[in-house]
Amino acid sequence: MTTAALGVSPAWLALREPADSAARAGELVDELTRQLPAGATAVIHDLGCGTGSMARWLAPRLAGPQHWILHDQDADLLARAAVSAPARALDGSAVTVETRCGDLTRLTGPDVAGASLITTSAVLDVLTADEVERIVATCVAAGCPALLTLSVIGRVELTPSDPLDDIVAEAFNSHQRRTVAGRRLLGPDAVALAADRFANAGSSVLLRPSPWHLDAQHAALAAEWFTGWVEAACAQRADLSTVTRSYAPRRRAEAAAGQLRIIVEHQDLLALPPAAGVSVGTTT
Ligand SMILES: C[S@@+](CC[C@H](N)C(=O)[O-])C[C@H]1O[C@@H](n2cnc3c(N)ncnc32)[C@H](O)[C@@H]1O
Repeated sequence: MTTAALGVSPAWLALREPADSAARAGELVDELTRQLPAGATAVIHDLGCGTGSMARWLAPRLAGPQHWILHDQDADLLARAAVSAPARALDGSAVTVETRCGDLTRLTGPDVAGASLITTSAVLDVLTADEVERIVATCVAAGCPALLTLSVIGRVELTPSDPLDDIVAEAFNSHQRRTVAGRRLLGPDAVALAADRFANAGSSVLLRPSPWHLDAQHAALAAEWFTGWVEAACAQRADLSTVTRSYAPRRRAEAAAGQLRIIVEHQDLLALPPAAGVSVGTTT
């Protein structure tokens, strides 16, 4: 079994896109801008592109012509990504797109030869340690920057709080680290492993927080996220179905009514190849 069995819906990706967009660490784009070669067309591989949220976010923040190569194992998501990419870069230069359907964990150096940048967004946590290590090795072989965004790190905060929040959070994190058909998922540990492996390979690693801040303006996303969060926790610990019998609908109704503020912490990672000079401090 591969990560295909953990498929995501276009509706969920659309619901989360504005929050993702607001959360990604713009400071890393500033650093990235300094690293990309001026003049030539930047070739950018986005691994696990979904419907293309990363290209919609990043392409208009980078100047100069860009060619995006969008990878995903889900042909339906790829088809949506192909028709919804931005046409113009920050300075009005052309942005072109192609799609490649396949398993991103099987990519090797030759698949990304000539890349100017490799990106991911909300992908690392569904991978295993071997798979993250292979992706890092592929990025290192490409010799270009890698911007790996929106990796969960296992911390959430709900306000006002409830005594059951921490219990659900712990079970949810265990669920993220579960073994699925022999694959031990990394969940909130993925970004730390990636940072470690990049650093071991001699890359400069920058880590920045990229939390979701959900409030009344994000009530639909908050309610949907909360539902999935509790369901995953109960799938992990069967006894929680009983324990959360009144908690779950009450808190979901609060989220849907915009009465819950929710912080879901993530980290963004920018890895720069050994030869690159970094202008801001590293954090690993
Ligand atoms: C949570 S979604 C994120 C999508 C997109 N990057 C975004 O930020 O909206 C994870 C994506 O990774 C893709 N994916 C997961 N494992 C994959 C694999 N092994 N090979 C290719 N794509 C994969 C899924 O199909 C899905 O589109």
